[in-house]
Amino acid sequence: MKEHLSPTLLIVDDEESNLESLERVFAKEGYHVLLAGGGKDALEMARKRRIDVVLTDLMMPDMDGLDLLRSVKTVSPETEVILMTAYGTVQRAVEAMKEGAYDFVTKPFKKIQIIKGVRRAMEKQVLLLENRNLRSLLETTGDKRIIIGNSFVIRSLLDMLKQVASSEANVLLIGESGTGKELFARQLHQWSQRADRALVPFNCAALPRDLAEAELFGHERGAFTGAHKERPGLFREAALSTLFLDEVAEIDISLQGKLLRVLQEGEVRPVGGSRAINVDVRVVAASKADLETAVEEGRFRDDLYYRLNVITIRIPPLRDRKEDIPLLADFFLRKYAKKNNRQIAGISRRTLTVLGSYHWPGNVRELENVIERAVVLSKGPMIEEEDLPPVLFDEVVESGSLTLPMGISMAEIEKRVLGETLKMTKNNKKMAAHLLGISLRTVYRILERQQAEDEALDKENGA
Ligand SMILES: Nc1ncnc2c1ncn2[C@@H]1O[C@H](COP(=O)(O)OP(=O)(O)OP(=O)(O)O)[C@@H](O)[C@H]1O
Ligand SMILES: [Mg+2]
Repeated sequence: MKEHLSPTLLIVDDEESNLESLERVFAKEGYHVLLAGGGKDALEMARKRRIDVVLTDLMMPDMDGLDLLRSVKTVSPETEVILMTAYGTVQRAVEAMKEGAYDFVTKPFKKIQIIKGVRRAMEKQVLLLENRNLRSLLETTGDKRIIIGNSFVIRSLLDMLKQVASSEANVLLIGESGTGKELFARQLHQWSQRADRALVPFNCAALPRDLAEAELFGHERGAFTGAHKERPGLFREAALSTLFLDEVAEIDISLQGKLLRVLQEGEVRPVGGSRAINVDVRVVAASKADLETAVEEGRFRDDLYYRLNVITIRIPPLRDRKEDIPLLADFFLRKYAKKNNRQIAGISRRTLTVLGSYHWPGNVRELENVIERAVVLSKGPMIEEEDLPPVLFDEVVESGSLTLPMGISMAEIEKRVLGETLKMTKNNKKMAAHLLGISLRTVYRILERQQAEDEALDKENGA
């Protein structure tokens, strides 16, 4: 079925006159408006086509608004539902909010009230849609692409990676922890002519020197105590494939000559033997820091450095490519929602703002962990701020600025601004009052109110 380009609103009410007047109101707003005289018809429509927002009466003879809400969320979790309730049924509307309704309005309502409610719900849909479009873009352009990101820098790096992949050059990947070095190595391998064989990873920091040597270069039978059998070693296992040397800066200096030999001459010499065996291996190495310092300090051979570093790819930390955060977050959301069998439609705008203001010292891995945790903790159809770990909110101070989501109350703003200012002044209330241009009494008033709220909350939670 052809999808309408304008946002689609479905209005459900058993009273014809209501349907007509609401239709007039929302057609003017530029929405594609559909009408249904009852819950069953409405659900039928939601099954057949994409509907962004449903505006439904709560009390209807054939199926009430609450049941409609539940059914709509089952067939189309991303659709937002707004309920219209009469005085006296507000309690049920509150119940509906808990079940994932977006909002409710109490009758009689002003036109502007309901227009605003629908607008907000639609805005959220536009955001979801943008993400979805990006996603399908990625799926069509990235043949076998496993790296997510749409920032300029990631797109350029991927272009480069693709080009380099088809060559035989050794590649050095530099990036902070969690930036995706291993993923880049896998992507490179997958795009290379060696892709039909498995990539062989080795972490140079994981083993002491002797074990690392035997592991990489293999050993002859009886080479040392316990060497009952000959072992080929990872270089030979990676023949005609790619060997990924992670944390390459940590490889023992006495093994570096042996490594150089493989790279230069394509030969491995197993421990305890004198024979040289030819291997064809491509090496991709990774390091958290530049190897130059290690070379200067004599921990890393410069000839090996030049061999490894024919092509260097620097993966920037996540804080320098924050444009990628929404896409990555959405990707991880889907991954963990599926894994945990959860129906979660997306990430709220406020939550995205918080994710965007954090500086991510653990980079993409940290973001992945945060989203996994949020998926497990979330109660509603969207990931909300309260599903994020507290550390993400401490952050704001460091930059000396504070990002506040739109739509929160003045009281809440007061509380947060004061909280952040007190952190800055190391809890010096007088200085905070001075900075904020308010009296010390006002500071105490806000703090007392906050304390009262906290206590009420504790009580509610049975603490
Ligand atoms: N651009 C990306 N798209 C999708 N997933 C990513 C991306 N970058 C990183 N990840 C994921 O983040 C996690 C960390 O990535 P990876 O292990 O490649 O980082 P690393 O740079 O090797 O980190 P470390 O130095 O700590 O070993 C992995 O689960 C990886 O799949
Ligand atoms: Mg790694």
